[in-house]
Amino acid sequence: LSTVEVDVSSLTPGMSLTVKWRGKPVFVRNRTPEEVKAAQDVKLEELKDPLARNANLPADATAADIDRSAGKDKENWLVMVGVCTHLGCIPLGQQGEYGGWFCPCHGSVYDTAGRIRHGPAPENMAVPVFSFISDTKIRIG
Ligand code: FES
Repeated sequence: LSTVEVDVSSLTPGMSLTVKWRGKPVFVRNRTPEEVKAAQDVKLEELKDPLARNANLPADATAADIDRSAGKDKENWLVMVGVCTHLGCIPLGQQGEYGGWFCPCHGSVYDTAGRIRHGPAPENMAVPVFSFISDTKIRIG
């Protein structure tokens, strides 16, 4: 399927789910206020990859938390392709130094905005085209 609809009504803050889209896992995470704040507090200069990698935004959008997330009023939501940008393994959630994701293959560490912070992966995990079609439903693709 080129698009998939995801019911996120059961995701309370801190919870996430994984759906399959175009053969790849997509992580949907309802971030806690603390997780959002941790990501917001990071300066762009600290990031290995300063670009948003967000298919909903221009290619030169920066990796500020707001532009990694679902945006204004929905910054708690993070939707991204759950594929490590190193060699394509699937990172594990709520793990690693930043409480984001940890890739067990070669140790890449991503923060709570899915941005690469340490390890061999070159880019932030990709944000696919998506939108909220209601308060509790997301369409991906
Ligand atoms: Fe994730 Fe190598 S595939 S660190």
